[in-house]
Amino acid sequence: MVVAAVVGAQWGDEGKGKIVDLLAEKADVTVRFNGGDNAGHTVKFQDKTYKLHQMPSGAFYPGKKVIIGCGCVVNPKTLLEEIGIISNDGYAPNLIIDSRAHVVLPYHIALDGMEESKKGSRAAGTTKKGIGPCYSDKAARFGIRFADMLDKKILEEKIHTMHEIKTKTIEQVYGQKFAQGEDDVFEAYSGYADELAKYVADGCAAVNDAVNAKKNVLLEGAQGALLGIDQGLYPYGTSSNPTSGGASTGSGLAPNKLNEVIGIVKAYVSRVGSGPLPTELMDGTAQKIRDKGGEYGTTTGRPRRIGWLDVVALKYAHETNGFTGLAFTRIDTFAGVSPVKFCVAYELDGKKTTRMPVSAEELARCKPIYEEMPGWKDLKPAEWRRICVRGYFAVPDEPKNYMKRVSEYLGVPIYIVSVGPGREDTIVIKDVFAK
Ligand code: GDP
Ligand code: IMO
Ligand code: MG
Repeated sequence: MVVAAVVGAQWGDEGKGKIVDLLAEKADVTVRFNGGDNAGHTVKFQDKTYKLHQMPSGAFYPGKKVIIGCGCVVNPKTLLEEIGIISNDGYAPNLIIDSRAHVVLPYHIALDGMEESKKGSRAAGTTKKGIGPCYSDKAARFGIRFADMLDKKILEEKIHTMHEIKTKTIEQVYGQKFAQGEDDVFEAYSGYADELAKYVADGCAAVNDAVNAKKNVLLEGAQGALLGIDQGLYPYGTSSNPTSGGASTGSGLAPNKLNEVIGIVKAYVSRVGSGPLPTELMDGTAQKIRDKGGEYGTTTGRPRRIGWLDVVALKYAHETNGFTGLAFTRIDTFAGVSPVKFCVAYELDGKKTTRMPVSAEELARCKPIYEEMPGWKDLKPAEWRRICVRGYFAVPDEPKNYMKRVSEYLGVPIYIVSVGPGREDTIVIKDVFAK
């Protein structure tokens, strides 16, 4: 029995969906533990591509349990759409939505954009999915959990309170109008409750039962370590904990139940949204990578900012997550760039540091100090695939040395190497669920 968490080690979009789908084959249960439909996790196998926002990426192994954990916020409309899409393709999910998970309401979505405009230069460039406002209400204990949504009396009461507060805020603070009446919201969410009721249960109990029954459990993080509400670059991140700590609180498993924490590391960095990104590339290399790799947001379609790998940021992510293994992704996309650089320290106000500053203002003043290595040859997808069939020893020396160097800097072994979006474009060095 193994409990393994998959955590984005950078700023999101590292390829978590791909790796979770791959590992889920041998897991009995997959739990998404944070975030909502701000996430966009791509799963690709055979000729199918699924872009999942709410559904755990382990949903493509019929019969296996998938859980939306208590740490998540859920847009019921998005979830119902995803259940419909994957069910039509023969993957009707064996889903549990933890009754503690919170529901994203139309007020949250409306306020997300308004709050962002108010923040001016300190806006994170959110996905406008209502994530921040929903987690705010959760923390303030105004929120509506799935358990509350299923009880029509509680739902009515809670919407009544929320409607008054939110519409007044929208009108009086932001000078805008909220189009829906209280009854409209109640009717819509009462309908979602009816449709989703069969999935709602005690997710914490289910995942603990699985562990007690010696099953393999996979915990799927959304976003990335550097976007977390506690250790991320405040205020330029999201509102949940996309960390191994969040994997515990967001699933209901005690921290000492986690055996493996796999940090997903893209060969370079990408970022959607605002905030300082010390290694950002502003030249043709960024556009080349963006075009080659289709680096546009899965949820919003925004072009992703691209930069050299930042080992200072990775070390911080490791410190706060305790990676037991790394999965390198996009080795194929990064091919053809030579030399490749990676940042091993920053210069801040004339002093060298290997620690990420806490403040965004300081990070914006950091100048990266790079190491350089030879890049590697671009190969066709079929050539990468042939390498996968042969195994890690067949990987060319240059990408191997690059990954080895980063792995040595962190003191964390390489578990997985990904050289394409599909399941077969992968080399597994350590199989965490192997008997
Ligand atoms: P996530 O949010 O971490 O799940 O990542 P996204 O799905 O938002 O973005 C990752 C993108 O890269 C998706 O389009 C994946 O299909 C793709 N992808 C994942 N791993 C690889 C890889 O090793 N090579 C290539 N070329 N694409 C990859
Ligand atoms: P996945 O799971 C990349 C970013 C947004 C914004 C900040 C806050 O696909 O890796 P939010 O809507 O959460 O309030 O936005 O966080 N962001 C992501 N960036 N990948 C994601 O998810 C993200 N989810 C949120 O761009 O800067
Ligand atoms: Mg994504």
